Amino acid sequence: MKTLGKSVRKAVIPAAGLGTRFLPATKAMPKEMLPVVDAPAIQYVVEEAVSAGLTDVLMITGRNKRALEDHFDRAPALERTLELKGDQVRLDAVQHASGLGPIHYVRQGEPKGLGHAVLCGRQHVGDEPFAVLLGDDLIDERDELLTTMMDVQAKTGGSVIALIEVEPSQISAYGCADISAIEGEDYVRVNSLVEKPSVDEAPSNLAVIGRYVLHPAVFDVLEETEPGRGGEIQLTDALQTLAAGEGEGSGVYGVVFRGRRYDTGDKLSYLKAVITLASERAEFGEDLKTWMKTFSG
Ligand code: UTP
Repeated sequence: MKTLGKSVRKAVIPAAGLGTRFLPATKAMPKEMLPVVDAPAIQYVVEEAVSAGLTDVLMITGRNKRALEDHFDRAPALERTLELKGDQVRLDAVQHASGLGPIHYVRQGEPKGLGHAVLCGRQHVGDEPFAVLLGDDLIDERDELLTTMMDVQAKTGGSVIALIEVEPSQISAYGCADISAIEGEDYVRVNSLVEKPSVDEAPSNLAVIGRYVLHPAVFDVLEETEPGRGGEIQLTDALQTLAAGEGEGSGVYGVVFRGRRYDTGDKLSYLKAVITLASERAEFGEDLKTWMKTFSG
């Protein structure tokens, strides 16, 4: 495969949102720390970045987000206690999170939107393509997505988004892409993007999900992007500018993902994600499924 650009090494994980859909649970705790079975959602996302070969993780945090830093840090007193008890299994689980590699943090002083959160990573990322992973979208580790997107970025030299097909009635909850097929390729060209369109306005049923591999040209565009929907600086609006533009760093491409994805950003989707992943656990999955069959509410 022809490589136009530098390879992707850095991941930016925006986690500075207010998580209002999950109140009151998120009043004092980041929504990214909500447990998905027995690990916080954010841990799955960092694990995904590391297994895709990304060696430099930058998390965008804000007020009330200290638990995120603590989770990925060493916990000497806890580790010593588990060691003394000879509880190797729990000790390994605790050390796993801090062993995922150094994580860098930068604070977004005010949650002005996802686009603004990504812009906060500018200085750390510099002039190279980078991945963005949203903390409330989980991609099953058995399914390939990020590495495919990184290959498409290297091949096209543009920016790459991940798309899923949704029921037309669901599209207004997502960013939506108008696309064209590219002959001989399994990725598509993104002609335009619109954030949370009404069903009538939506150009397709292809919804943008929380994985991006972006050309650093997005930073200049974000600097100029005015607040859009909801008064927030929208990453979708900046990508729309790149999709319509010409020259170095323009061009947006899409990878249509057909694997397993779990949304943990709202209550019902979160509950479904937890039940799906819990029912696959060797230690209690079968018991849980048996109980669910008998559960009638
Ligand atoms: P969401 O819109 O899903 O997160 O943003 P939110 O704003 O926290 O949630 P609700 O809608 O109020 O319930 C997607 C991702 O972007 C981050 C969020 O933390 C989430 O991971 N984000 C959003 C920021 O980092 N900063 C922002 O200003 C907005």
